[in-house]
Amino acid sequence: MKRVLILYHSGAGSTKTIAEVYRETLHDLSPDLMPITLPFPYEILHHYDLIILGFPTYHGEAPSSMVQFVESMPLFEPQKAVFLFTTYGLYPANALYHLGKMLKEKNYVLSYTAGYRAPATDAALLLPPIKPLFRYDKNTVKKLNNHLEQIRKCIESSLVVEIKPRFRLHALLNYPNQYFGKRVKHQLSVDNTMCVQCNRCVDQCILTCWQSGSSSLVPVYDNTHCEFCFKCVHHCPANAIMLSSKTKIRPKFNQVFYQKRKDELLSYLNNEEIRR
Ligand SMILES: Cc1cc2nc3c(=O)[nH]c(=O)nc-3n(C[C@H](O)[C@H](O)[C@H](O)COP(=O)(O)O)c2cc1C
Ligand code: SF4
Ligand code: SF4
Repeated sequence: MKRVLILYHSGAGSTKTIAEVYRETLHDLSPDLMPITLPFPYEILHHYDLIILGFPTYHGEAPSSMVQFVESMPLFEPQKAVFLFTTYGLYPANALYHLGKMLKEKNYVLSYTAGYRAPATDAALLLPPIKPLFRYDKNTVKKLNNHLEQIRKCIESSLVVEIKPRFRLHALLNYPNQYFGKRVKHQLSVDNTMCVQCNRCVDQCILTCWQSGSSSLVPVYDNTHCEFCFKCVHHCPANAIMLSSKTKIRPKFNQVFYQKRKDELLSYLNNEEIRR
């Protein structure tokens, strides 16, 4: 049987949710599911026939950790098929196109690409709560159904079928937003009186921006390499990490939120009428 690996990078959890839904709905193929880590044990990729690779769109591009992951990838021989997907808040610009090009340079060819709209995890903290920024695609279930079919086709095909992702010319209008968005450096802080010293922020940050404190047990943050995915802010169990005192009271996208979304998607996908 062909082997499938679902690899994902996710900040708050939208991309992880889609990756988990793929795994559960493709259970007959027993796919493996793995979060991307830096460094990454690239040699395991040789064991799989199809890689499903998911990432969130940040500033119209792939996050810096994802770029690092692909840049450090060894050249693959022979060609390997990749199903690439992204989640985005409003507009994914050319994120799929650019990452697809980088993968091609490593001999990973795109067999399909997909995008899913999800709540904007940055806007939740940075902007006033405007409804359009917190919507899912109305047709997420239909999309998922179609994409799951495409994944099965990729697996059944004995050839590595290559598609060329579309370059969106109008994404150039989004360039100022991308340019300035990428250059803003936030400074996260911890409320020492609230921190319960669980070390979750230290364990979960892909770019190791949090270190266990030496003099106190409250972790210490360094924003030098931070990609501002806000995973640590959304997932701190004590709500102790903040961008500013104003954002402290903003609703958080935590594990409970994404578990609910995943259960909802799986129940819809199992419902014949909603699926169509
Ligand atoms: C730093 C940052 C930048 C973002 N930039 C964009 C963007 O340019 N376009 C967009 O549509 N969504 C953008 N978003 C929203 C995310 O793409 C969206 O919330 C995504 O589903 C998050 O997935 P995750 O929870 O797996 O990280 C951004 C989010 C963050 C945290
Ligand atoms: S996740 Fe929150 S509570 Fe846990 S160590 Fe980090 S700041 Fe403290
Ligand atoms: S410190 Fe927080 S916001 Fe920055 S990369 Fe790590 S988890 Fe993401």
